[in-house]
Amino acid sequence: MPRKFFVGGNWKLNPTSLSAAKALATSLKQASLNDNVEVVVAPPSLYVIPIQDTLVGSNVGVAAQNSYIKESGAFTGEISVAQLADAGVKYVILGHSERRTLFSETCEVVALKTKAAVAAGLTVVYCIGETLEEREADKTTAVVDVQVQAAVKELDEKAWSKIVIAYEPVWAIGTGKVATADQAQEVHKHIRTYLDKHVSASVAAATRIIYGGSVTAANSADLATRPDIDGFLVGGASLKPEFTNICNAKA
Ligand code: PGA
Repeated sequence: MPRKFFVGGNWKLNPTSLSAAKALATSLKQASLNDNVEVVVAPPSLYVIPIQDTLVGSNVGVAAQNSYIKESGAFTGEISVAQLADAGVKYVILGHSERRTLFSETCEVVALKTKAAVAAGLTVVYCIGETLEEREADKTTAVVDVQVQAAVKELDEKAWSKIVIAYEPVWAIGTGKVATADQAQEVHKHIRTYLDKHVSASVAAATRIIYGGSVTAANSADLATRPDIDGFLVGGASLKPEFTNICNAKA
């Protein structure tokens, strides 16, 4: 089965008003999006439910940008997968490099969150990627292996149908320095080979591996031509009208 192209819009901590968030969602709802693409937007947690309401009647899904390991209890500031599932939310982004660096999330924590989210029925956009220092030290594949391995350790084979891997080199996020299509393809292929070796051939063949890091309308079409690039996770450009073009980048 061909892998369905997946495009996520990671709004991060934007915009700063509910009315602006609703306007963004409304413009996406009105845009003409290719039916063969799974499109998901991730608003700040406060806006997840109203944005989901705004998008009713469209094929655009809604993701949380984070969730916790535990279902409930004394965990101030957290949001649980049980609460997300109860609200009808079907996706969550986990392990984004901003969570890993600014909020000190380890590979183990990200993997445990992923396990909990999948158990609650959510699809996880599982983010990985190397820093510039790691790339320059030729450690890219070693770094992504460790990050994927953490998930492999926690997930059974069936759980992988709920995972979309987002390869996001940290040096490309928000910098305007996009990986070339060949650079991204090389790492995506490596990740797929890793899944083949450490999970199964069918999981390797079926898992979407999407690219993130300074994706724009201008560079998305070329990236989308590569065989192992199954979509995008888009930050800055997901707040602009060009997000529609990125969603439709796969010819
Ligand atoms: P960017 O962010 O598109 O602004 O580089 C991507 C991301 O952080 O997911």
